[in-house]
Amino acid sequence: RTVYVNGAYLPEEDAKISIFDRSFIFGDGIYEVSAVIGGKLVDCEAHLARLERSCGEIRLALPWSKAELVAVHEELIKRNSLDEGGIYLQVSRGAADRDFAFPTDATPTLVMFTQERNMSSAPAAKTGIKVVSCPDLRWARRDIKSVNLLGPVLAKQFAAESGAQEAWLVEDGVVTEGASSTAWIVKGKTLISRPLSNKVLPGITRKAVLAYIGETDFTFEERTFTLDEALDAEEVFITSATSLVMPVVQIDGHTIHNGAPGPTAIRLREIYLDFAK
Ligand code: PDD
Repeated sequence: RTVYVNGAYLPEEDAKISIFDRSFIFGDGIYEVSAVIGGKLVDCEAHLARLERSCGEIRLALPWSKAELVAVHEELIKRNSLDEGGIYLQVSRGAADRDFAFPTDATPTLVMFTQERNMSSAPAAKTGIKVVSCPDLRWARRDIKSVNLLGPVLAKQFAAESGAQEAWLVEDGVVTEGASSTAWIVKGKTLISRPLSNKVLPGITRKAVLAYIGETDFTFEERTFTLDEALDAEEVFITSATSLVMPVVQIDGHTIHNGAPGPTAIRLREIYLDFAK
């Protein structure tokens, strides 16, 4: 694989960053993951807008324009002949001797790489995925896409050990979101997902789905829901740049929609893919 590090395209074995990099030492960095479908970037502008917002919130001045970042995305797709998968981007405050407060002289580090993944015909979309719930142990600014991911790492490991593909993070009985996805439930033609706030990452896929349902008879109800409500829901699904729209057929061992993907999630996935292609 060819990866990108601070202006250079290199074979992954040759890519290096400092052990003093602040994303390594402090988790002082921001990331983005965008999907590539049929060799095309999906919603790259929106991901880069969220990157700018996240960086602004931690006062990290990005030295690259959006156009420059899009160009690196495109170049990586080309150099790796990437048809389906994703692009990971990470920016950190840079390398400096270890000291908590911001360094005065560090230059931000930018790292990007591609990952091949079956997107439009992901086998999991045919069967649906299993979810387990666990307490939400994350910090109070989950709207910032920071590389501090220990909470989600532990939650995903719990899911993996439970034979599930995603963990739903729960706080005071309410589902905040998936460890790396937005959580949705369905009642009739109504799609339910919680309002944006400091408690959740504002999902780009969530936003795209909401834009696309304008042309359908689905309506959106923006509110929190409890885990109990999800267990009783007609359908459940998640959205993210890695899963797109993914039906959920089990939560904590409790079967959803007879254990098969429901028509709403299937339809939304089709609509999403139609627009993405
Ligand atoms: N995760 N919520 C959390 C906590 C996430 O980490 C993500 C994405 C989402 C969905 O956001 P989007 O639709 O913009 O991908 C919601 C990425 C895919 C990841 O960490 O791999």
